[in-house]
Amino acid sequence: MHDFEYDGSGRLCCAEVPLETIAREVGTPVYCYSLPTLRRHIQAFEEPLTGIDHQTCFAMKANSNLAILTLMAKSGLGADVVSGGELFRAMKAGIPASKVVYSGVGKTTEEIDMAISEGILMFNIESEEELGVINERAGALGRKAPISIRVNPDVDPQTHPYISTGMKQNKFGIDIENSVRQYLRARDMEHIEIVGIDCHIGSQLTDISPFIDAVDRLKVIIADLGAQGITFRYLDLGGGLGITYSSEQPPHPREYCAAIIDAVRGLDLKLIFEPGRVIVGNTAVLLTKVLYRKVTDKKTFVVVDAGMNDLIRPALYQAWHDILPVTRKDGPTHRVDVVGPICESSDFLAKDRDLPAFSRGDLIAVMSAGAYGFTMASNYNSRPKPPEVLVDGGGYSVVIHRQSYEDLVAGETVPEGMI
Ligand code: LLP
Repeated sequence: MHDFEYDGSGRLCCAEVPLETIAREVGTPVYCYSLPTLRRHIQAFEEPLTGIDHQTCFAMKANSNLAILTLMAKSGLGADVVSGGELFRAMKAGIPASKVVYSGVGKTTEEIDMAISEGILMFNIESEEELGVINERAGALGRKAPISIRVNPDVDPQTHPYISTGMKQNKFGIDIENSVRQYLRARDMEHIEIVGIDCHIGSQLTDISPFIDAVDRLKVIIADLGAQGITFRYLDLGGGLGITYSSEQPPHPREYCAAIIDAVRGLDLKLIFEPGRVIVGNTAVLLTKVLYRKVTDKKTFVVVDAGMNDLIRPALYQAWHDILPVTRKDGPTHRVDVVGPICESSDFLAKDRDLPAFSRGDLIAVMSAGAYGFTMASNYNSRPKPPEVLVDGGGYSVVIHRQSYEDLVAGETVPEGMI
């Protein structure tokens, strides 16, 4: 569900503002977010959890601009962070540390110290060595670190292999048998407080059953440890609920939440969720302009001014994003590749797509770009990162400015005498 619709004059609008206006005034490429959609998606996730003891911790890796995070904070959401930089952003946006969970296989000493000092809700531990280091750092800081173990339940999430995280061959979490051993070890650690148990099995899941399989496996551990006197306050079920990019039919958050609530009945634990994509994925488009149309013997290429540095998902995961003309075009379609200006053959936004006849100067909206779009953008080919714009109530606001060429070289030095 989103708010990107054509108006009576055939202009594609974001929350009632024509995208062509934004392109004219801000330039392209540009990420445009519909604030009404974002608000509705937060509501759609939270409503089924009314009356359920829970905390939703938005997975900031999906989108971490301060304006969006501030809305999350004001809506009562916490954050799932995976780096010191994300923790810094969360704090800056006013998300209380007591609503922050910290996941990730490679937390550095500095990041651990920062999270302990801020007083986060809990660390999701990803390895036995990390558990030892966190105990040591908490001791050095004169604190106790709240932890849960991220269990790798060995469940197949049936998603793209790069975004599957809960199988034995993945680098994430600790397997079931070792998790039990690590909880027993953690119990004896002076500076560790066991508060929860956690799992996250993958992203863009379109079926409920892997989530429930994972919960069932965690329930066995919870019972096993309970019998040995280890109890929990939190059950963190990660994120991963998928969205519709093309024809996928993922469960609605209502169905997902109902199934989880049913599966955890009787456990008496506060539930933690870490949704990312389902909240922000369909709130934004990447707006881009056609530079050239290039016809070869084999293919027709529509060359646009956004590339894999702006939106890497198609190149990295063969991800499918819908492509819409910003001015409605009737008439025949043509099979084309929509490609960017980057010097890589993997630099495409759409491949073998039947699209209306685009020509130089036309504007195109790359749909469903709100999750893992801007956050994965880079400066490859020395391209400045695009701006981000929030649209609401018939107006818009630039919340991240387009980088300048000077921004590209800020922080670089040429050592005199060495060169
Ligand atoms: N929690 C943890 C520990 C995670 O690793 C992730 C995503 C999430 C929550 C949020 O998952 P979501 O609700 O967004 O599915 N760049 C890829 C997706 C990578 C997901 C990584 N982890 C993409 O563009 O599809």
